[in-house]
Amino acid sequence: MAVSLKGRDFISLNDFTWEEIDQFLKTALMIKLRLKAGEPFQPLTGKTLGMVFTKPSTRTRIAFEVAMYQLGGHALFLSAQELQLRRGETIEDTGRVLSRYLDGIMIRTFAHQDVLDLAAAASIPVINGLTDLLHPTQVLADLLTIYEKKGHLIGLKMAYLGDGNNMTHSLLYGAAKTGIHFTAATPKGYEPDSGIVARAKEEASKWGAQIRVTEDPYEAVKDADIIYTDVWASMGQEEEHAKRLKEMQPYQINAELMAKAPGHALFMHCLPAHRGEEVTDEVIDGPQSIVFDQAENRLHAHKAILTLLL
Ligand code: CP
Ligand code: NVA
Repeated sequence: MAVSLKGRDFISLNDFTWEEIDQFLKTALMIKLRLKAGEPFQPLTGKTLGMVFTKPSTRTRIAFEVAMYQLGGHALFLSAQELQLRRGETIEDTGRVLSRYLDGIMIRTFAHQDVLDLAAAASIPVINGLTDLLHPTQVLADLLTIYEKKGHLIGLKMAYLGDGNNMTHSLLYGAAKTGIHFTAATPKGYEPDSGIVARAKEEASKWGAQIRVTEDPYEAVKDADIIYTDVWASMGQEEEHAKRLKEMQPYQINAELMAKAPGHALFMHCLPAHRGEEVTDEVIDGPQSIVFDQAENRLHAHKAILTLLL
């Protein structure tokens, strides 16, 4: 029996059990099928989602907005620049006030603690649309994409190359919760958070899945089913761009590196990509790349989150 997720926040994949993640994935698949069949599915008629952004977005903003519309509800884009937040109203008071108007809040911001504080003050579900620490809605869409391509998740091998960032952290949780073996290859000084790695190892051990962090990109890809990367300088790290470019060069996903991986390995990227930096055109535009299927699945994954929580 599926448990009710109504009223829950969506802040970290680590807050959910495997069964709950499976429920999100099954719901997303069902909603996607109905959309493709032209069957309306509008469980959120009359409901409104507020979307607070302090960072730019293409996919997250548009996929959440279209998801609410197609589910029969409405989405409001709230630039933090134009809210009283900018003039010092607290995140807690903002959460209390928004709870009086809305049915859910999606927020993309810098400090992860701000999302936790907002969720603690709000009486409606809060969805993490990316912080400096985590990006869970992306990884739910990624798990959906991998499941569609491979037919299962447990036992697959994923290699992540580059910066040990918000994507790495959510991929660690997503892989650990679903039994995917996960290796992060990052340069010295750019490793993922050790607390998150430790929690992921604990979760993964329930499946017998391995979680590893290495400096060797070739070691990571040699038996990978999935090769994943992300930008080397995330939003807010623009000033470090040149330094990171130099230090992360050996982790670039190019044809030479793909040749060291199994021929069936799929290439994934959350996008936006910095072509010529973390990935070359030949790989991202090549036959192993599934990046635009990933991007599409943001819509279907977001609909599952909204349908189950709101
Ligand atoms: N992948 C992702 O979150 O994209 P946006 O920054 O465009 O939302
Ligand atoms: N790590 C990237 C992900 C963008 C979707 C960033 O935070 O900018």
